[in-house]
Amino acid sequence: MTFCVAIDGPAAAGKGTISKAVAAHFGFAHLDTGLLYRAVGKRVLDGLDPVEAAQTLTAQDLDAGDLRTSAVAQAASKVAVIADVRAALVAFQRDFARREGGAVLDGRDIGTVICPDADAKLFVTASAETRAARRFKELSGKGQPDTYDQVLADVKARDARDAGRAEAPMVAADDAALLDTSTLSIEEAVAQAIALVEQSRSGAL
Ligand code: CDP
Repeated sequence: MTFCVAIDGPAAAGKGTISKAVAAHFGFAHLDTGLLYRAVGKRVLDGLDPVEAAQTLTAQDLDAGDLRTSAVAQAASKVAVIADVRAALVAFQRDFARREGGAVLDGRDIGTVICPDADAKLFVTASAETRAARRFKELSGKGQPDTYDQVLADVKARDARDAGRAEAPMVAADDAALLDTSTLSIEEAVAQAIALVEQSRSGAL
């Protein structure tokens, strides 16, 4: 059995938490595709050429401890505009999506470019302020020094770059279900996401 769930949306909308919970609920594998771009961004900060960094990415690069910083997030969104960087990461993501037993992929272009035929598609959003507040809490919890205003500026800059790029821009697929988490608790957002995937699953069976 293969079953692909595509979860897209802007920075810090809750995709990661929702994707992990959906994957655990259905027993599917989960791939955070943002981590691929973050790992490439980190290698570029370390001095590598972006395309070479993407083409020679290894599993070990994904384990680098400091991929969740704002500096790496910005570097990720800068390398993510480069067509050859994106192309180098496509095959790995598509293979993952076709995994036996089902897969959840979260990112920006999963429902539009990586898996346009996904069995279920969600586009998770929230206001920029809500997303910045959540990310600020997450980063503060890890002892990172960013202020709320810096985090909000980072979120807005990445949103603009991710949505405005020519190659695989962040946009909801026409057939994606929209899930605005601005006023939802994590539990409510997860429950709604699971219900939406369940609907597609019963249609697919
Ligand atoms: O966790 P957060 O939502 O803040 O970001 P992320 O999912 O880790 O993605 C980091 C950056 O990678 C994004 O700002 C995008 O520029 C890029 N990205 C992308 O272009 N396509 C994807 N499928 C996933 C991430």
